[in-house]
Amino acid sequence: MDDPIREKMDESGQAIDKNDVIMSARGLVKNYAMGGGEVRVLRGLDMELNAGEMVAIMGASGVGKSTLLHIFGALDRPTRGEVLYREESLFSRSDAGLAQFRNRSVGFVFQFHHLLPEFSALENVIMPGLLGGEARRDVGGRAEALLERVGLKERMEHRPSELSGGEQQRVAIARALMNRPELILADEPTGNLDSGAAGLIFDLLREINRSDGVTFLVATHNAAIAERMDRQAVMVDGRIAAKF
Ligand SMILES: Nc1ncnc2c1ncn2[C@@H]1O[C@H](COP(=O)(O)OP(=O)(O)O)[C@@H](O)[C@H]1O
Ligand SMILES: [Mg+2]
Repeated sequence: MDDPIREKMDESGQAIDKNDVIMSARGLVKNYAMGGGEVRVLRGLDMELNAGEMVAIMGASGVGKSTLLHIFGALDRPTRGEVLYREESLFSRSDAGLAQFRNRSVGFVFQFHHLLPEFSALENVIMPGLLGGEARRDVGGRAEALLERVGLKERMEHRPSELSGGEQQRVAIARALMNRPELILADEPTGNLDSGAAGLIFDLLREINRSDGVTFLVATHNAAIAERMDRQAVMVDGRIAAKF
């Protein structure tokens, strides 16, 4: 499959350039229809994410953090405004192009892991590889290496219900990494964990950011965790507060 974005990324190698904008929002507006009226969630939001950085997105519950992450991940469309992914207008892509972006360029980690309950940890991690068109024999080794990396070498054959909350989130992180995304969108990834497990999960995300140069945008309510990221963006009234 032709994917000029992917080729550009491969040519540029693994180097992290902090002045290299990977994703930006310009005048982003999102309204939801509600009982004949409209809820105005994003109200002309602007922000930029540099390749290789880890940015916290904070703000009161209901302010629109998940809405923004969903749009950056092409799970939803903006009402108005533009999202640029590596200088390309993301929503100018065809549906197939957007599907390819979701499968290859971006990884998601949610508060509740959304693992498939009938499948083992290993099968859950393999899944995005199969959906991306790779053969089972080609993806198994990579999935095993990822599960080992997140500390679950001995748990690969377990189903989600047989794992702790922190372990389930580790599987979700391995799954998000499966197709080697350059951006990970994490929506309150530690929100469902006690503080000990939350710290360990954040350590893992930070290590992936530093060693692989994966860019992260992480919605969180946890101030201690937000402080450990490179920058903190606070959403107020549908925009990023000025000091960001
Ligand atoms: N699909 C939807 N339809 C209608 N309203 C929605 C929908 N999704 C989110 N909202 C509303 O948009 C606002 C922002 O939600 P959300 O992005 O989930 O906020 P946050 O993640 O910051 O808590 C909330 O008022 C929420 O009720
Ligand atoms: Mg949310």
